[in-house]
Amino acid sequence: MPNVVVLTGSGISAESGLSTFRGPDGLWEGHRVQDVATPEGFAANPVLVHRFYNRLRRRLHEVEPNAAHHALAKLEAALGHQMHLVTQNIDDLHQRAGSTQITAMHGELNTIRNIATGQLLSWTHDVVETDQQWRPHVVWFGERTIGLETVAEKLAQADLFVAIGTSGTVYPANQFAAIAKAAGATTVEINLKPSELAFDQTWIGPATEQVPALVDALLKDS
Ligand code: OAD
Repeated sequence: MPNVVVLTGSGISAESGLSTFRGPDGLWEGHRVQDVATPEGFAANPVLVHRFYNRLRRRLHEVEPNAAHHALAKLEAALGHQMHLVTQNIDDLHQRAGSTQITAMHGELNTIRNIATGQLLSWTHDVVETDQQWRPHVVWFGERTIGLETVAEKLAQADLFVAIGTSGTVYPANQFAAIAKAAGATTVEINLKPSELAFDQTWIGPATEQVPALVDALLKDS
């Protein structure tokens, strides 16, 4: 059985109805990243930032995991601890599909963090817009990603690395394919169009088709 590390980006949730970040209908369109995704933006205008994340959080209640999320949960059920999922997504669709071995490296929309104490609270409601004691438990630009030590360990042991639905524009996730490759892994990309990064194989097409196909191929081989 191979050790598999899967990295997902917002493209895997697109067919569930969530916007990706970049592109014409992307989440950042209409917002300056520095206003809604930096500590400075939050300090300057917490109302705008809470409103932005409240809207995203509400949207989670309207969408469901798709065939790609379910296929990855099925792969984990077959491989157990030999499969690790690293997601840049702050939605909860992998968790709702049944994946459990997850590093949510950019945090989670359904968690809020006390700014003074660091206490985390599970939170599926709107945060009061004027609140300045609690903030979304998401990684903003200029902040440390979560769980990088675990990811580094998993990448060092990987036989297969699969990146799904990510443009590969954001550090450090855009380094993972090269790190896995250097450690001896085969690298595969699934995307609507190839990203700029180098992979051994590129599977072009929607995640809901390509991910189940890849998972079926892996399960047949193992
Ligand atoms: P992007 O919006 O940068 O990229 C989305 C990728 O998904 C693109 O490469 C699309 O081609 C691909 N895609 C779209 N629909 C797809 C589909 N149905 N099937 C397969 N692929 C599809 O989003 P991310 O790469 O996730 O970070 O962005 C990375 C990080 O940048 C985010 O986590 C966020 C953002 O700034 C933070 O907020 C810290």
